[in-house]
Formats: sequence, structure tokens, C-alpha cells
Amino acid sequence: MRATCRLAAKTLNMIAPHVQPGVTTDRLNDICHAFIIEHGAVPSPLNYRGFPKSICTSINQQVCHGIPGDRVLREGDIVNVDITTNLNGFHGDTSRTFAVGQIGTKAEKIMRVARECLDIGIAVVRPGAHLGDIGAAIEAHAKKNRCSVVREYCGHGIGREFHEEPAVLHFGIRGEGPVLRPGMIFTIEPMINLGRAAIKLLPDKWTVVTRDHTLSAQYEHTLLVAPHGVDVLTLDLEAEGVV
Ligand code: MF3
Ligand code: CO
Ligand code: CO
Repeated sequence: MRATCRLAAKTLNMIAPHVQPGVTTDRLNDICHAFIIEHGAVPSPLNYRGFPKSICTSINQQVCHGIPGDRVLREGDIVNVDITTNLNGFHGDTSRTFAVGQIGTKAEKIMRVARECLDIGIAVVRPGAHLGDIGAAIEAHAKKNRCSVVREYCGHGIGREFHEEPAVLHFGIRGEGPVLRPGMIFTIEPMINLGRAAIKLLPDKWTVVTRDHTLSAQYEHTLLVAPHGVDVLTLDLEAEGVV
């Protein structure tokens, strides 16, 4: 799990400088696909329940599961790139929302709040905490910033399967749900909207968008409940200057 999660993190860091005005989401897909294969892994999304590409790219009001294609990213867009790798049968899952060139204040705000929601959710994770504590903390932070939490999609256990139990809701009640124990591995991946929480599915049957067309942003990490707290697995500590 450490190796696949590190590779997913490396892939996200690798693609970051390619997210520029003028690039197509297909090009981002192809670069990530090649990088993942070169590192002896397989992109988990490809053919997952019929998903046709190797990564998800979700632009502006797209919430998640955007399908890479010939759309060209433009200055001012925000785009979530979601990477999942399968290395030796183990999945690692991480995503980040990138600014394309200079972006507006609304885009800056939704990226900041979504990032903070992930960080606040992670900060709650330790043995003895309840699963509901994570969602409660995220929901409170979104509300405080007058943003909303998408309710139809959630974080998830991960390991030999891409999506395992438990469902990690990004809203909830403190003290509810199962108690976290060392060794558990799951994702936290709040989708935060600038407007209302309601979403709809596009006719491609994958792309999720906000009903009110407001901006949405998302960040995701895969986490291990460690004996004394939390271990964020989808980091590449060397590249991120930690070691
Ligand atoms: N990576 C997404 C998640 O965080 C799931 C994408 S499923 C796909 O759970 F089929 F769209 F790739
Ligand atoms: Co996930
Ligand atoms: Co993901």
C-alpha cells in the first residue's frame, strides 16, 4: 500500500507542471497513463465499471469523474486530476485541484475551502476516533465558509479493491459510526461546492456536475490509521521536500 500510494502521489506531482492553458485533458491522461505503466503499475480507472480513460479530469462546475477528452484547458479554469494506481494488486488513490494559469477569486476560494476540508478531515483521524467525526468536521468547515458538501459521493476503504468498505461520508455526526483502529486504510475526498450541494449526472453517465453550475473543487488522500495518529500514504516525501 505504501508503494502504490507513493506512485499515485508521484504521478500527481509529475502531471502538475503540464496543467497549463492550451493542454487537452486527453494529453494529461496520456502522460499519466505512460508514467504509471513505466513504473510497473496499471491505472485503476481504465475499464473500471466501463470507465474509458486512465485518470479523471473534472473542470470548473464538474464535481468528479470527468472523462478526459479533446477539451482544451483555458486560463482561469480549475481542474481536478484524480489518479488511482494498481501496483502489484494494491490500489492507491489521490487527487488535487489545479489552477490553470491565473484564476478568479471564486475559484481561489473554492480551492482553498476544499483543501482545508481535506486537511481538517485528516486531522481528526486517530485510533479511537469515530468515522462520523471526519464528516462532522468537514461539514462544519464547509458551512462556516458558506460552501456545501456533495452527499452522493464519498471516501472509501481501499486496498486489494479500488472501492472497499467503509463508506467515508464527508458529512455526519461526531461520535457516530465505527471506531477507527490502527491498520485501517481509507480515502478522504470531499467534493465542495461554492453554491448548493445538489448534483446531476451528464448524459455520458460519468461526469458529475453541480446542478446550479457553481464551481466545485476536490482533494483526496489515502490514509492509514497509525498507532499514534494518521499516516498520509499518498505523499511523495522526497519530492515534497519533507525528507
Ligand atoms: N478515483 C475516484 C475515487 O476517488 C473514482 C474514479 S472511478 C472511475 O474514488 F471509474 F471514474 F475512474
Ligand atoms: Co477515492
Ligand atoms: Co480518486
